[in-house]
Parts: sequence; structure tokens; C-alpha cells
Amino acid sequence: MNMQEKLPDTSGAPDAGLSSLFEKVGILGAMDAEIAEFLKHAEILGRTEWRGFTFHRVKLAGRHVILVKCGIGKVHAALVTQHLIDTYSPTSLIFTGVAGALNPAYEIGDVVISRDCIQHDVDGRALGFARGNILYTDLKVFAAHPALVDLARTTRVDGHHLHVGRILTGDQFMTRDEINHHRYMLDELAGDAVEMEGGAMAQVCAINGLPYLVIRTISDRADGDAVLDFNRFLPLVAHNSYAVVRHILNSLR
Ligand code: ADE
Repeated sequence: MNMQEKLPDTSGAPDAGLSSLFEKVGILGAMDAEIAEFLKHAEILGRTEWRGFTFHRVKLAGRHVILVKCGIGKVHAALVTQHLIDTYSPTSLIFTGVAGALNPAYEIGDVVISRDCIQHDVDGRALGFARGNILYTDLKVFAAHPALVDLARTTRVDGHHLHVGRILTGDQFMTRDEINHHRYMLDELAGDAVEMEGGAMAQVCAINGLPYLVIRTISDRADGDAVLDFNRFLPLVAHNSYAVVRHILNSLR
């Protein structure tokens, strides 16, 4: 594909009836703890191994779902997303798991639904490109599918808030030192939460013309306690993302 060309805008696809979005959903998480709740509640139909990744064919809330742990980082997320698309022809894709908060109003355990994603570590400014702009393309802000966002935002998460915000993705685990050296994540890119895979999946979805959504539970504040909090809260909070996915899968009965 000539990457200078505009990609199809699937974000607003009015003809994609809501139900058709959920005919076969691909769900990715980076770590075991991030997909554990899904596996616990799913009816397993089968599994296939590919290059060390396990693709689970399951039924969840009566829907056909392909569930996979892709590992951490943008390359893993992109690789597994493209294989999932080529092999299973999903109608939409969801990335689920945890994120660090950038927005001071977000608390640990809150859920953030992606309005859009930007890859914060893409930097071609020396060549005249804006930060986050994938070089020599029009790609920078990857909008999630608005109907998926609207459905997800109606979930009630017990004891926590649900936000719709901008997710920044990059191959760095962010702590306070990192953020202090990367003020642009707040000032320029206006990020609400930071993680390491969503924007990569979003780019692959854009190239393939597929709707996507990222659902992340806040595990830390990307600050001086980030490492401690991440390890402590990951297993406790990851299931909040599951509640949102279950809600959207159930909404269309
Ligand atoms: N995922 C969860 N917390 C994170 C952080 N602080 N930085 C990057 N990815 C994260």
C-alpha cells in the first residue's frame, strides 16, 4: 500500500450495524493476568498455537471470540494482531489490560476507554513530522470506533469510575523520571493514560480497515511508585476491563 494514501476511515462506519461488529471479536491482552478473567468465564471451543502464541477460540457472552496473549510491546501487538486478522477474519478487535494514569483525575482501578490512541515514541521531528506522526504517512491519531466507545461507556464498574480518554502507546514502562523527561506526553499529546500495545494494534486495524477499541484499567500513576503499584495492582484490577467487555458483548442480545 502506498502509505501516503489516506486509509479508509472505519471510525465512523455508519453502515456497520452494531451487531455485525460483534460477529467475531478478537480480544488481545499482553500478559496472563490481563486475559485470565476472560479465560475463566469463556467456553473454550479450541486452541491453536502459532509461533509460541496461543489463539483460544471461545464463546463469551454468547459471542464467538478469539482470545490471545500477545506479550508486551508494540512489535508483539502488531505481529499478533495481523496474524489474528489474516487467520480468523474478526469483525472487530479489542485490546484489554492495564495502563498507567497520566490524567491526575484517574485513580487506580478506574477504567479508561480509548477515544483514540497515539504512539508517543514515534518521533520524526528532525524530518519535519509532528511527534506521533508515522513518518511519510497521514497516520497519527487512531480513532476508536465511536459505536464501540458509546457502548463501553455505559458500563457500571463497581466502586470505580469509567473514563473515555486518549491512550498513549510506546515501548517504555513510564515512571516519574520518564514522565519528567517526556513532558510532551501531557503538554503536547494530551494523553490520559499510557501503555505499551494499544496504539500498535490500532495502527494495524487502520491499515486493515477494522474497527477497534482499547479498554484499560489503571494499575499505577506512571509516577515514583509505578513499578510497585503495577506489580501490586495488576492482578487485582485487570478484571475491571473484563467487566466492560462483558457489558458490551451482552448489550446486543
Ligand atoms: N502499563 C501499566 N502501567 C504502565 C506504565 N506506567 N507505563 C507503561 N505501560 C504501563
